[in-house]
Amino acid sequence: MEQNNKKVALVTGATSGIGEACAVALAKEDVFVIVTGRNRKRGENVVSEIISYGKKAVFCELDVNNQDSVNQCRQYVEEKFSKLDILVNSAGIYPRFSPLDSIEKDEIENVLETNYTSLLLVSGAFLSLLEKCKGTIINIASIAGIQGFASGQGYAYASSKAAVIKTTQMMAKVYAKNVRVNCVCPGVIDTPLYFNLDKEKMSERVPVGRLGEADDVAEVVKFLASDKSTYICGASITVDGGLTL
Ligand code: NAI
Repeated sequence: MEQNNKKVALVTGATSGIGEACAVALAKEDVFVIVTGRNRKRGENVVSEIISYGKKAVFCELDVNNQDSVNQCRQYVEEKFSKLDILVNSAGIYPRFSPLDSIEKDEIENVLETNYTSLLLVSGAFLSLLEKCKGTIINIASIAGIQGFASGQGYAYASSKAAVIKTTQMMAKVYAKNVRVNCVCPGVIDTPLYFNLDKEKMSERVPVGRLGEADDVAEVVKFLASDKSTYICGASITVDGGLTL
């Protein structure tokens, strides 16, 4: 078992975008980060970056949609660390959207499974390791889960994120004494998720005049993961440059 007195964090979807930024930001705070994802090469690049700062990280393969993968990752964390202080649920997809009259079952199920069902299953799998050390869960939701028009006709996407917000409140209340649960609702953040975004046009719609960076979200996650936020429980914090106003 890894002998250390550092906090331990596991970040899902940590091989790119917001998850990657959260992994790096937490590691810079001296947290031992378990970088997880499906792509080992990308994950090991993130680990190398963290190690280059003199900080600690390991990669563990984790497909959040695959229960065997979740169980194996849980077992790895139990054997190596025997606890988990911070869980950041960042894995998610933003698929092609279809209008209601051409939406397909696979599209709905795929989004709900990745963005919502898996978040519940991953949180459940790591719950006892979090309870052991009065840990915290931070879910990455979206302003799409708050606003009717934030993601156009992305019915399943917006609903998956609304479900994350609701579930955050429920988990927060039930486990408040042992595990603090909160979520962050990003606006439009410049990550690989939006590969076909017209950035200039979108920036004009944001009151602060720019798209968000993954680091803008990671800073808030870092705060929620820290002992500076111990009275924040069940909150949904927007990080959107005023887009929802
Ligand atoms: P991203 O595409 O860079 O990151 C998402 C990561 O999740 C990718 O690394 C992807 O491989 C991973 N992933 C997808 N399915 C997975 C699975 N089955 N198992 C494990 N990993 C899986 O995009 P970004 O922007 O960093 O997204 C992170 C989270 O932030 C997502 O939940 C997204 O919905 C949310 N979000 C992003 C916004 C944005 O503007 N970029 C806005 C609001 C919310």
